[in-house]
Amino acid sequence: MSYPYQIKSLEQYHEVYKKSVEQPEAFWDNIAQNFLWKKKWDKVLEWNFKEPKIQWFQGATLNITENCLDRHLEKNGDTPALIWEPNDPEEHHRVLTYKELHFKVMQFANVLKNNGVKKGDRVCIYMGMIPELAIAVLACARVGAIHSVIFGGFSAQSIADRLQDAQAEFIITCDGAFRGNKDIPLKGVIDDALIACKFVKRVIVCTRTRTPVSMIKGRDVWWEDEIKKVETQGNPFCPAEEMSAEDILFILYTSGSTGKPKGVVHTCGGYMVWANYTFVNVFQYQPGEIHFCTADIGWITGHTYIVYGPLSAGATSLMFEGIPTYPDAGRFWEITDKYKVDILYTAPTAIRSLMGFGKSQFIGKHLSSLKKLGTVGEPINEEAWQWYFKNVGKEKCPIVDTWWQTETGATLISNMAGVTPAKPSYATLPMPGVQPVLVDEAGKEIVGNNVSGNLCIKFPWPGMLRTTYGDHERCRQTYFSTYENLYFTGDGCLRDADGNYRITGRVDDVLNVSGHRIGTAEVENAINMHNGVVESAVVGYPHDIKGQGIYAYVIFSTEMKHDEDLMRKDILQTVSRIIGAIAKPDKIQFVSGLPKTRSGKIMRRILRKIAEGETENLGDTTTLLDPNVVEEIKKGKI
Ligand code: WT7
Repeated sequence: MSYPYQIKSLEQYHEVYKKSVEQPEAFWDNIAQNFLWKKKWDKVLEWNFKEPKIQWFQGATLNITENCLDRHLEKNGDTPALIWEPNDPEEHHRVLTYKELHFKVMQFANVLKNNGVKKGDRVCIYMGMIPELAIAVLACARVGAIHSVIFGGFSAQSIADRLQDAQAEFIITCDGAFRGNKDIPLKGVIDDALIACKFVKRVIVCTRTRTPVSMIKGRDVWWEDEIKKVETQGNPFCPAEEMSAEDILFILYTSGSTGKPKGVVHTCGGYMVWANYTFVNVFQYQPGEIHFCTADIGWITGHTYIVYGPLSAGATSLMFEGIPTYPDAGRFWEITDKYKVDILYTAPTAIRSLMGFGKSQFIGKHLSSLKKLGTVGEPINEEAWQWYFKNVGKEKCPIVDTWWQTETGATLISNMAGVTPAKPSYATLPMPGVQPVLVDEAGKEIVGNNVSGNLCIKFPWPGMLRTTYGDHERCRQTYFSTYENLYFTGDGCLRDADGNYRITGRVDDVLNVSGHRIGTAEVENAINMHNGVVESAVVGYPHDIKGQGIYAYVIFSTEMKHDEDLMRKDILQTVSRIIGAIAKPDKIQFVSGLPKTRSGKIMRRILRKIAEGETENLGDTTTLLDPNVVEEIKKGKI
C-alpha cells in the first residue's frame, strides 16, 4: 500500500495543518478518497456541539473489514497481518497473513450468524490477548454487530453492569487467559456476571488454558465446535454487511468523574479514517515494517493501534499475550529482536517499571531493528523519556508522545516520528484537523503562548465520540456543557513558546493509574459496599511506577472495628469484586472523620495534599466544619 496522505516534512505538516483548519470539509473529502466505500458521502460534515450532533461522511456506506482485509488481498495477501507472541516464550508463536486472517474472520462471522447475531446487536468480548480476540472483533464488524470489548481485569460485577447498559445478548470469551505466571478464569467470571443477566442468549467460549469450565446447555458453546459446523456447511465466504458511515462500530466503556462507566460510542466511517490517518502519520509507517503496540485490545489503544489502524493500512501488527516482566524484564527486547520490530509503542508506566530492573535486561539484546518509539496513556516524565531514548532507541529513534483518549478514537496531539520535532514530556503539535484551545475556569479562551489552562477542542475530527450509549444527555453533560461550543477533555495543559502542548494530567476526579483511567467516585462506591465502612474518600498521589496511586481515607464503623490489617484486606477484596483488581487502593488510612465544609462537601484538595506528603500549605481550612480532623489525618498518614 502507498499512503499519498503521509506527511513527509515539518514544512508540509504546517501546510497540511493550515488547509485542514481553513477548509476542513475539502480536506477530509480528499483524505477519505483513500478508502474503500460501497457508496460515497453526500456531505462530509454536519455538526453542532450543543446537542451534540456530529456526523461525518453522511450518506456513505462501507464495511471497515473490507478496508482492513479484503482490499489488501490482491497485492498483499501473503503479507503477515498479525503476528502473535504467546505469554510463554517456549510456546510456538503464530502468524496470520492477510489471506488467512480474512478467511478466519469470515469463518467466525458465519459462526456469529449461525448463533443468531444480527446487524446492530451488541456483542460483549471478554478474552485474553490471543489472535481470536482480533478475529472476534473483526467478525462482529463484518456482520455489522456492535462490539464491546471488556478488559480481562474487570470483575463479574463490572461485566454485568456493562452487559445491562448495552443490553448485550451475546458474549465471546475464553476458558481462561495466561498473563505472566497467572491463569485468569475468564469463563468463570462470565458465569458469575450472568447470574444477574438472564437476557444473555449465547456465550461462545474459545479454548486457551483449558481450565475446567461449566458449559450451560442451550447457552454456552465452544468456539471450535462452532467453527467445525461452519466447515461442514461448506461456505467459507461471508459478505461484508453494508454499514452507514454513522452506524455504530463499537462501544467501549470508560470511567468518568461521576457514576458508573459510560459506553463511549464510535461509528464506522469517521473512526476508520481517523485511526488510519493517525497511524500512518504519527508512526510514519512504511510497508513491511513490524508494528508492536504493547497495549491490550481491551483498551482503546489496542482497538486503534493493534487492530483497526494497522490493518486498514495493510501493516503487520504484532500482538503480545504476556506482560513486560515475564519471564523476565527483557521480554520486550527479546520480542523486538525475534521479529525485528521496527516500531515499539508502549506506556510510560511500563518504561518506568523496566527502568527499575537495571541494565542487565539488555544483555544479549541488539534492538537494532528499532526505528521508531512511541508512548501513550499518561504524561511521560523526562527521566523515563531519556531512559527510553538512550537504552531502547540507542539515541537514533524518534519518540512520539501521543496524547489522546478513549473518546477521541485516536491520537489528537503528537509529534510525527522523524518528521516533526519531539520535545521530552511534550505531546507537541496537533494532528491535522485538530484545533486545541486552552480555557480558564470561566471558559474564556487563553490566547498566546507560554500559557496554561484546561484543554478543549473547538472543531470536530472524524474519530470523535458520537454519544454515550443509551444516554445522549450524559454525553452532552460530560463533554459539551462545561464550556460552550467546546469539547472538554478533562485534562490540564500548557502551551510553550513554540506552540507545543504538554498535557499535565486530569483536572477532574479521574485518576490515571498505570495508564488506566479510574474514577475516584467509582472506587469510593466500591469501598462503601463493604459492610464495615461508613464513608470513604479517594484521591490520587504521585506513584513512581504507576504515575498515580490510589489513596483511600476510610471511616470504619466503631462497632465493627477489628484487626486493621484484615480490615484493609477485606476492603481490597471488596474493590476487586466490585470493579476489578486494577482499582485496588495502594494505601488505606483509617480515619475518624473527613474534612468537610459546613454544607457537607468533602474537601478533596486537602486530602490530596496530605496524600502527596504535604503537611504545611494545606490552604484555607477555616471553612471546615471540624478543622481538628485535618490534624488527626496528618498524623495518621501512611
Ligand atoms: C487520558 C485518557 C489514549 C489511550 C490510553 C488512555 C491521559 C493519554 C497521554 C499522553 C499525557 C495522556 C490523559 C487522557 N493521557 N495519553 N501522551 N500524555 N497524558 O486512554 O483511558 O481514555 O485515558 O489519559 O489524561 O485524558 P484513556
